[in-house]
Amino acid sequence: ILITSALPYVNNVPHLGNIIGCVLSGDVFSRFCRLKNYQTVYICGTDEYGTATETKAIEEGMTPKQICDKYYAVHKSIYEWFNIKFDHFGRTTTDEQTEITQDIFRRLYEKGHISTNTVDQLMCLQCQRFLADRFVEGICPIESCRYTDARGDQCDKCGQLINAIDLIEPRCKLCASRPVIRSSEHLFLDLDRLQGSVEAHLERVWADRHSWSANSIAIAKSWLKQGLTKRCITRDLQWGTRVPLDGFEKKVFYVWFDAPIGYLSITKTYAGEHWDKWWKNPDNVECYNFVGKDNVAFHAVMFPASQVGADDNYTIVRHLCATEYLNYENAKFSKSRGTGVFGDDARKTGIPADVWRFYLLYIRPETQDTQFCWTDFALKVNTELLNNLGNLVHRSLNFLASNFDHRIPEMNLNEADIDFLVEANHLIAEYGNLLDSVHLRDGLSSILRLARLGNQYIQSNKPWALLNESAELRERAGTVSGVAVNFIANLSILLHPYMPETSAEIQRQCGIQPESVNTYTEFMKCLLPPGHLIGEPKPLFKKMESSRVEELRLQFNGATKKGNED
Ligand SMILES: *[C@@H]1O[C@H](CO)[C@@H](O)[C@H](O)[C@H]1NC(C)=O
Ligand SMILES: *[C@@H]1O[C@H](CO)[C@@H](O)[C@H](O)[C@H]1NC(C)=O
Ligand SMILES: *[C@@H]1O[C@H](CO)[C@@H](O)[C@H](O)[C@H]1NC(C)=O
Repeated sequence: ILITSALPYVNNVPHLGNIIGCVLSGDVFSRFCRLKNYQTVYICGTDEYGTATETKAIEEGMTPKQICDKYYAVHKSIYEWFNIKFDHFGRTTTDEQTEITQDIFRRLYEKGHISTNTVDQLMCLQCQRFLADRFVEGICPIESCRYTDARGDQCDKCGQLINAIDLIEPRCKLCASRPVIRSSEHLFLDLDRLQGSVEAHLERVWADRHSWSANSIAIAKSWLKQGLTKRCITRDLQWGTRVPLDGFEKKVFYVWFDAPIGYLSITKTYAGEHWDKWWKNPDNVECYNFVGKDNVAFHAVMFPASQVGADDNYTIVRHLCATEYLNYENAKFSKSRGTGVFGDDARKTGIPADVWRFYLLYIRPETQDTQFCWTDFALKVNTELLNNLGNLVHRSLNFLASNFDHRIPEMNLNEADIDFLVEANHLIAEYGNLLDSVHLRDGLSSILRLARLGNQYIQSNKPWALLNESAELRERAGTVSGVAVNFIANLSILLHPYMPETSAEIQRQCGIQPESVNTYTEFMKCLLPPGHLIGEPKPLFKKMESSRVEELRLQFNGATKKGNED
C-alpha cells in the first residue's frame, strides 16, 4: 500500500483545513493499513520550488534555499505535534527530484509527447518579473462564473482550470498593478495525445472496487469530457528543476509538472534504490493519493498523463481520496485576517493533539464542505469523548480495580454476554469495511457506537448491584467486569488510527504494553485472560468549559489581529 498526501507548499503555514484535508486523513488510513499488517509506506513532504518561494525570499531577505529550510522545519514540527506518522517527510529540492523529473521529461520528449510554442505571458513591470499563475488574480473567464477573485491557474468558485492570460482585468497579486503581455518560447506536454491512455486507465480503475471519492470521479470525468489540451510545462524562473534541453537552459519546469514527481523522489530519498519497487510495480502496489478537491485534476489526469506518456511501467493512481473544504466558523481560513487556527496555534491552546484529531476527523469534509465550530467542538468532546468513550473506559477499569483487586476475574459468558459480543463484532466488521474504503468519518462513528454499546452493556447488567448478594452473583459481576475491560482493550486497537496517544494510554491502563496488541481482526477476542493484572485507572479526557471555549473562539476570529501580517 503506497500512500501519499498532497505536498503542502512550503511557504504556507498549514491550517486545520489543510491538516484534515490530506496529512491527517492519510495518517489514519496508513495506521489502519499497519493494523492490518499490510506492507505500507506513507510519503509526504514540502513542495519547495516556484515563484512564491522566490518572492518570499526577497521579502525576508534570504535565499530561496534558506526560506525552504526555515519553513520545512515549521511544517515538520506541526505534523509531528499532530502525531502524523510519515515514513518519510521529505522535500522537492533534492538531486533525486532533478534526476527523476529530467528522466520523465526525456522519455516524454523522445516519445514525441512534447511540443514547442511561443507563449504570451503576463509580466508585471512594477515587480520586474513574469508572473506565475498563482500571482495573478482577476475575473474568471468562464462565462457562467465570472468570479472576481479567480487565480491565474484555477477558479476557486467554479473549479475550472484557466490560463492566466485569459483572466479578465488581471492584477498582480503582489502590487495590484495591471500586468502586461510579453512572449517567450515554452515547452508543452501534449495532453491531447495522451487522453486516450489516461481514460483507459481510469475506466479500468473505476471498474474495480475502488476508493475514489464521488467528487474526484466527477471532476476527472468533467475534465476528460471537455477534452485535454496541450499544457505548458516550463516557466521563466530561477528556482526550479532545470529543463535538460538545448535552448531552454534558462527555464525551469512548471510546478504542476514537477510537484507530483515529488512523491517519487521523496520515496527514493527514503528507500534508496528500492524506490522503484513502489513506483514501477503496478501489479503489486495499491496507490492511495490523499488530496483536497482543488488537487484532483492534477492527480487524476495530468500526472497520470505524464506517467503513461513516459511509459516506464509506473504505479499510477488507483484510489483518489479527495476531501471537500473545511470552513472556519462560517468563514474561510485566512492567515492575513487572523481567522482560524493555524500551525502552532493548536498546540498553544493546551488541547491535546488527540482531541484535535478526534474533532477534525469527526467533521472531516468527506462528502461536502463542513464547518469547524468551537461550540460544536466542545459539545462533541464533552458528549462523545468524555461522557461516552471516556466514561466507558474509566468506569470499566475503575470497577475492576476497586472490586477485583486489579485482576481480571473468571468469566463465564451467558447468552446476554454473547449477544453483546456478536453485536460488537458486527460493528467491528463494519468499521473494517468503512476504513478499507476510506470512509474515515463513518469509521469513527462506528467506534463511538461501539462505546455506546459498551456503556449499555454495563448499564443493563448493573454489576455494582451484584457485589454483596451471593457468591454466584458476585461471580456474575466478575464476568461483566472482565468482559467490559476486554471490550475496551479491543476498542483501543480500533481507536489507534484516530487517537494514537489515547489508544496507548488505554492499553497502559489495561496493563498491556502499548501497541503490542495493535493488530486488526474482525472478531472480539479475549485479550486479557483471567488473572491478568490491569494498571491504574485515570480519566482520559477533560471537560471543555464553555468559558474557555468562548475565549478561544474570540482569540481566533480575526478581530484581535489587525492589518496584513501574513
Ligand atoms: C511492470 O511491472 C509488473 C510488476 O508490477 C511486472 O509484472 C511487469 O512485467 C512489468 N512490465 C513491464 C513492461 O516491465
Ligand atoms: C458492599 O459492601 C461493602 C462493605 O461490605 C460496602 O462498603 C458497600 O457499600 C456495599 N455495596 C453495596 C452496593 O451494597
Ligand atoms: C481483540 O484483541 C485480540 C487480541 O489481540 C485480537 O485477536 C482481536 O482481533 C481483537 N479484536 C479486534 C476487533 O481487533
